[in-house]
Amino acid sequence: MRRCLVFTAALLLATLPAAAQKLAATPPMGWNSWNWFAGKVTDADIRKAADLIVSSGMRDAGYVYVNIDDTWEGKRDASGNITSNEKFPDMKALTAYVHSKGLKIGIYSSPGPQTCARYEGSFGHEEQDAKTYADWGFDYLKYDLCSFGKNMREAHPNDPAAQNKMMRDAYVKMHNALVKTGRPIVFSLCQYGFDQSWQWAPEVGGNLWRTTGDIQANYESMMHIALAQAGLAKFAGPGHWNDPDMLEVGNGKLSHDENITHMTMWSMLAAPLIAGNNLTQMNDDVSSILTNKEVVAVNQDKLGHEGDRVWAGEETEIWARPLADGSVAYAILNVSQDRSVMRGMKLHLKEAGFPSGTAHARDLWAHKDLGVIKDTDVFTIPKHGAVMLKLSK
Ligand code: GLA
Repeated sequence: MRRCLVFTAALLLATLPAAAQKLAATPPMGWNSWNWFAGKVTDADIRKAADLIVSSGMRDAGYVYVNIDDTWEGKRDASGNITSNEKFPDMKALTAYVHSKGLKIGIYSSPGPQTCARYEGSFGHEEQDAKTYADWGFDYLKYDLCSFGKNMREAHPNDPAAQNKMMRDAYVKMHNALVKTGRPIVFSLCQYGFDQSWQWAPEVGGNLWRTTGDIQANYESMMHIALAQAGLAKFAGPGHWNDPDMLEVGNGKLSHDENITHMTMWSMLAAPLIAGNNLTQMNDDVSSILTNKEVVAVNQDKLGHEGDRVWAGEETEIWARPLADGSVAYAILNVSQDRSVMRGMKLHLKEAGFPSGTAHARDLWAHKDLGVIKDTDVFTIPKHGAVMLKLSK
């Protein structure tokens, strides 16, 4: 029995990554309803989002998942099947519409009895719900811990290890249920990084897992999350990605330079690019930031090697990410609160993998070759801004 279990576990681990790699070989890209619509999202909003993702050029830039977040859920019918509420009258018709645009579509649930917005969760109905999502035609599930935390604490008071095991088991259960449907469904773990999610999320079938609490549409929140990703690179790779949460580009009061920094970091980090802005009012600036081909190409680089911090000072940080063609994506962040122009800093090219202290550089935001740069060169970086380069020998 024990040998059989060990064998099954080994088999599971051996097969999971292969399946996962196919599903999210590069970080998933798309749009999700939560950051803009929160609890107000409707079927019409999702259809409109799909239309605009196509007409804005976002689909062709790689944003293919249109994800419904929390508050679509209705009650269960007499047989325990989940239904959608009056905001989503016909899920099958909605998925067909989104698919007809050459896009994919995602849905949301919780392992707990209730979702974070207190709608019906999947607790005790995991297989049934997975089957329903597959029958409806969904391609992606965000599975948000929410009320399951209470179940964990009640089942194992004062025993965090047992609580954590219960959390992992809940994610395994839904992963197995998704696999059983036979439909490829990206599995997005949302549990705010609890128990160092990056250490175990790939083993429970996660294609992506949140590493922190919720992002907000302001510079402080975005930067706090971005810089907290240092050291996590080794846990990510094709099929399994650290998720520093969805994009706020175009939301709140984020300035042009703050949006540039946000997109730069999410691309350096091989983070899922799930936009969350109001597409009906997207201006050209936001659209061009989200769809910058050279920046998105870094995010989607086939090597799947997440970037990491190579140097940090009081006013600047330098991050680097090795790319499949042997070049290196390189970002300088102006992290000073008030200095608008950075001068006299060293570029730390050695730490970024260029021992000679020189490199050929291309500016990915400006779409401009800069020729050979050297450690002592000076870049002008606006307040809260970033420079993003592709460096080669
Ligand atoms: C949590 C998640 C968010 C969003 C909401 C929905 O806070 O982290 O991304 O899904 O729940 O209720």
